[in-house]
Amino acid sequence: MGKACRRMLNLRSSASKRGEAVASVLILYSTTDGQTLRICQRLQQHIEAEGHRVTLVSITDDAAPHLLAFDKVVIGARIRYGKHQPEVFAFIKAHLVDLQRVPNAFFSVNIVARKPEKNRAETNPYVRKFLNKTPWKPNLVDVFAGKLDYPRYGFFDRQVIRFIMLMTKGPTDPAAVVEFTDWQRLAAFARQVCALELAGSNHGER
Ligand SMILES: Cc1cc2nc3c(=O)[nH]c(=O)nc-3n(C[C@H](O)[C@H](O)[C@H](O)COP(=O)(O)O)c2cc1C
Repeated sequence: MGKACRRMLNLRSSASKRGEAVASVLILYSTTDGQTLRICQRLQQHIEAEGHRVTLVSITDDAAPHLLAFDKVVIGARIRYGKHQPEVFAFIKAHLVDLQRVPNAFFSVNIVARKPEKNRAETNPYVRKFLNKTPWKPNLVDVFAGKLDYPRYGFFDRQVIRFIMLMTKGPTDPAAVVEFTDWQRLAAFARQVCALELAGSNHGER
């Protein structure tokens, strides 16, 4: 057996070694420029390191996974021009009943969350708006600051974002690339996801 394979088996069994159930976690992401996907990939690494299984899928994929096949569901969604993608709301609407039957979590990714006074679920305007707009009441809610990547943006987007940054005292250099994501806070969020109680009592290592 290869070294990588042995390591994977060790990781996989670490939850059960501690006497905990090994959970199967679905992470659904909505991204445009890739930072929310990066955050979800890091979340996946953290959860897998605790010995659980993770499936990572775009929420815009046509073939929606069957939520009840998983023990936990996490949705991570980016903000653009003040909005989460309509597909996020469409998915939640279409799968609300199943979503509410498994322990679940939501987080938003936006640039406003770089500000300490707006980097909590209770203080971030997009999270508040999201929770008001959807009937879903996630068990766990968080928000993470995203990435600013001026060279990647088209002319119009770059000017608009620069103007917003000027108004909110952020970077305006058109060459600036700044990752505001707090990876330590993400690690803490991952621990909270791992700690979410499993529904029912028949979940063991499968
Ligand atoms: C065109 C555009 C519009 C954006 N609008 C907002 C906004 O209204 N509020 C905000 O906080 N962040 C805004 N952002 C910042 C994004 O939320 C941030 O870059 C995030 O990392 C994007 O996630 P993604 O890389 O997964 O697409 C915007 C970014 C772009 C490129």
